[in-house]
Amino acid sequence: MKIFVSGASGQLGKSFVHELNKRNIEFIAPPQEDFDITNYYKINKFITPFRPDIIINCASYNNVEEAEKNTTRAIDVNYKGVRNLVKISQLYNIKLVHFSTDYVFDGRKNSSYVETDIPNPLNLYGKSKLAGENEVMIYDNSLVFRLGWVIGYGKNNFLYKFTKWIQDEFVVKVSNDEISVPTFTFDIVKYVLMALDKKLTGLYHLTNSGKASRYELADKYAKLMGFANEIVPAPMATFKTIVKRPLVIVMSNQKISEVLGVNIPRWEESLKIYCNAIRSNPDLRF
Ligand SMILES: NC(=O)c1ccc[n+]([C@@H]2O[C@H](COP(=O)([O-])OP(=O)(O)OC[C@H]3O[C@@H](n4cnc5c(N)ncnc54)[C@H](OP(=O)(O)O)[C@@H]3O)[C@@H](O)[C@H]2O)c1
Repeated sequence: MKIFVSGASGQLGKSFVHELNKRNIEFIAPPQEDFDITNYYKINKFITPFRPDIIINCASYNNVEEAEKNTTRAIDVNYKGVRNLVKISQLYNIKLVHFSTDYVFDGRKNSSYVETDIPNPLNLYGKSKLAGENEVMIYDNSLVFRLGWVIGYGKNNFLYKFTKWIQDEFVVKVSNDEISVPTFTFDIVKYVLMALDKKLTGLYHLTNSGKASRYELADKYAKLMGFANEIVPAPMATFKTIVKRPLVIVMSNQKISEVLGVNIPRWEESLKIYCNAIRSNPDLRF
């Protein structure tokens, strides 16, 4: 089995690279300067000679605030770039694995979102990701996973940002009415590789189990890491933002759990593993 990983320097991409190395699976994972999913010529240059069995697309434009201003780039990466990957996958019958987000929903449902719920994104990021996943779903030989708050070893996650804030301020306000499911990259990788072994196709919600507000997540993380800062719960409305964000989106992981026959760990359990790892190797944070 040969795998191609795009977006390999992001937090999820790095976790795939780590696990594929560990399992001795043949793969290539070029950096973005060499491989840009918005450039079909570059895609072709890598994919045609390597001819992977699977493309795992971790490349994405994820800056939710910036996407409102930098609309073109967000759509180029999250929609047109994804369309390029669909095209090349169709050409060589490559299995395409793609990731989307809970931000395709508006957060107005009073219970957990399931895969058959109708998306209704509130912001440009969510719209561009929905357009991308729709492109992938046209192709039968594909797998799409919608993720919650992704946390991995890298800078593009809430815990990294929180760690920066508490270095500057002793008292830090964190929203307590914004709720989702913290979802750890090492768990995502594990279940995606299981899904590939089982030759699954289609759309799945993949999150850790449970749910949390940003405040609960920050508070638990600070306690596990031994930070003495004062963390103050505050409503989302007190923070400046130019983006409409859904407040509460919890996706059910029941479908993927049943198909794989697994109990996906609660986020608190995976948070402990994450904290132990960065405590023993602080470089993992970057
Ligand atoms: N982060 C979250 O909380 C979250 C929540 C829900 C879903 N997701 C989804 O999870 C997936 C993985 O996200 P992540 O957290 O690992 O994000 P990440 O850390 O931001 O990684 C994304 C990677 O994509 C690269 N990239 C951007 N534009 C590209 C392009 N045109 N061609 C090739 N590579 C490009 C980025 O490179 P540069 O760094 O050089 O730009 C970065 O290395 C994404 O599909 C995302 O939408 C994430």
